[in-house]
Amino acid sequence: MRHYSLLDKFINQADYALRTLLDTPRITGRTYPATHVGDHLLTEQEKRHAGNLMRVNHAGEVSAQALYQGQALTARLDNVRANMEHAALEENDHLVWTAKRLKELRSHKSLLNPFWYAGSFATGALTGMIGDKWSLGFVAETEFQVVHHLDHHIQQLPANDARSIAILQQMKQDESHHATTALKAGGTSLPLPVKRLMTVMSKVLTASAYYL
Ligand SMILES: [Fe+2]
Ligand SMILES: [Fe+2]
Repeated sequence: MRHYSLLDKFINQADYALRTLLDTPRITGRTYPATHVGDHLLTEQEKRHAGNLMRVNHAGEVSAQALYQGQALTARLDNVRANMEHAALEENDHLVWTAKRLKELRSHKSLLNPFWYAGSFATGALTGMIGDKWSLGFVAETEFQVVHHLDHHIQQLPANDARSIAILQQMKQDESHHATTALKAGGTSLPLPVKRLMTVMSKVLTASAYYL
C-alpha cells in the first residue's frame, strides 16, 4: 500500500475541493437522468423558482462531497472504504447533473459553496475522529434527511419541469442506497438532539442557497 505524506494528503484534498467547486470531479459515467426527458415550456417565474431549488440541491451535493472527503481522511473505515468511495463518486454525479440543470435553467451556483464545503469537510473529519460507528451514523442520518428533502423539492418544482424532477428522482434513489450502505457498514443511530441540530443546519443551507 502506498504511503502518503502529510503534504501529499493536503495537495490531494485541495485538488478534490477545487474539482468539486468547479464541477469537474471524477464521476461514475452514468447517463444524465434528463437525457431522454422532454424540455417543456416554463414561464420565467417557474424557471427562476426551479433554478433556485436546483441551486439548493447543487449546494447540498457540494456539502455531501466534503462530508465524504472529511470522513475518508480521519475515519478507519476498515473493509467499507471502497463502498464509501463509490457513494462519494455517485455524489459527484449528482454534483455534475445539478450543475448542468442549473445551466439549462440559466441560473447560477450558490456563492456560499466554498463555505458549505469547508464546514462539511470539518464535520466529516471530526465525526471520523470520534469513531467509525458515529461517522457512518452521521452519513446515514444526513442521507435520510436528504431523501426527505428531495421528496419535498420534487413536490415544489413546477409540474412541467420534468427534467429537474427526473434528476431528483435518480438522486433520491441513490441517497436512500447511501443511507443503507452506511448503516450496513456499522453506522449507529444518532442521539435525537444531534439529529435536530442537523435539521437546523440543513435548513440554513436550504434557505440561504435558494437566494444566494
Ligand atoms: Fe447526492
Ligand atoms: Fe448520498
